[in-house]
Amino acid sequence: MLGWILYSKSKSELDELDNGVNRLLQAAEAKGITLEVFKPEEFELVVSRNDKKSIFINNKETAMPDFLIPRIGSQTSYFGLAVIRQIERLGVYSCNSSQTIEIVKDKLQMHQLLAHHQLPTPNTMLVKFPIDAGLVKQQIGFPLVVKNITGTEGKGIYLIHSEEQFVDLMELLYANNPASHVILQEFIQSSYGKDLRVFIVGGKVIGCIKRYSESSFKANFSRGGKVASYDLTPEIEHLATTTARLVNLDIAGVDILFDNEGFKICEANSSPGFKGLEKVIGHTVAEQILDYIVDRLERATTA
Ligand SMILES: Nc1ncnc2c1ncn2[C@@H]1O[C@H](COP(=O)(O)OP(=O)(O)O)[C@@H](O)[C@H]1O
Ligand SMILES: [Mg+2]
Repeated sequence: MLGWILYSKSKSELDELDNGVNRLLQAAEAKGITLEVFKPEEFELVVSRNDKKSIFINNKETAMPDFLIPRIGSQTSYFGLAVIRQIERLGVYSCNSSQTIEIVKDKLQMHQLLAHHQLPTPNTMLVKFPIDAGLVKQQIGFPLVVKNITGTEGKGIYLIHSEEQFVDLMELLYANNPASHVILQEFIQSSYGKDLRVFIVGGKVIGCIKRYSESSFKANFSRGGKVASYDLTPEIEHLATTTARLVNLDIAGVDILFDNEGFKICEANSSPGFKGLEKVIGHTVAEQILDYIVDRLERATTA
């Protein structure tokens, strides 16, 4: 079996920081699966009516794989999405699909969908210039969280404590890019510096961990957050699997905030890292992802 990973680096450029891809390569080798790693820029997109089962990579006509694992997540560019779409169009299963990645990378769209389906999320609004600070105070209140619409690893996320600080930041944003897309979100105080990361493969929860930070309100593992095991409750399972199902995420990392006695959904990731999770549940995540893909492909051929 042959798979491709679409990533920000090619195979020869990988180093020890590329944990997710390295682990997938290791697991594939043990299972006798050939996995190649390509960057979107290595592809040539030729769209024609002639559906050949091949694609140009580094100017060489290359036969299609059995599956694709996109690992660029919310940083997937227009070109990256176009590459995934082209590969899907030639009949290859992409885990996750281009359509899902496109929805999930837009944090506002995700919150609109979650709220529409009555799932608990922090109150969220899109920034519009000129800013109406009075409306923001009334609808969201302070402190509030400012987020880039397509961020990851806690980058571009600020905790704003006062109206004055908020107006200052918005003026800076506007001066730099009046077209920037930023959301404002109710700050869930009881989740300060901690949250849950629920990992889903094929619609099932394969792990739930608590992430916590001693230095920031952000709990991201990639920012030095710590991890601990956390018992999955029916409520957490319901929130995470429903979120994944809503947008057809075959693989998902769902971030869940602690809200007093309950929970609020923070976001979903389409190519979640799993170094923190494997620290807690052991080195099985990459294997479970590949097992799921192989099983799905085998079921599709026998159906
Ligand atoms: N509304 C919020 N209230 C409290 N904490 C939050 C809120 N939004 C985000 N956080 C914290 O910031 C972290 C990063 O936010 P998130 O939306 O998951 O962005 P990223 O895509 O960068 O991981 C979360 O894991 C959580 O710890
Ligand atoms: Mg997150």
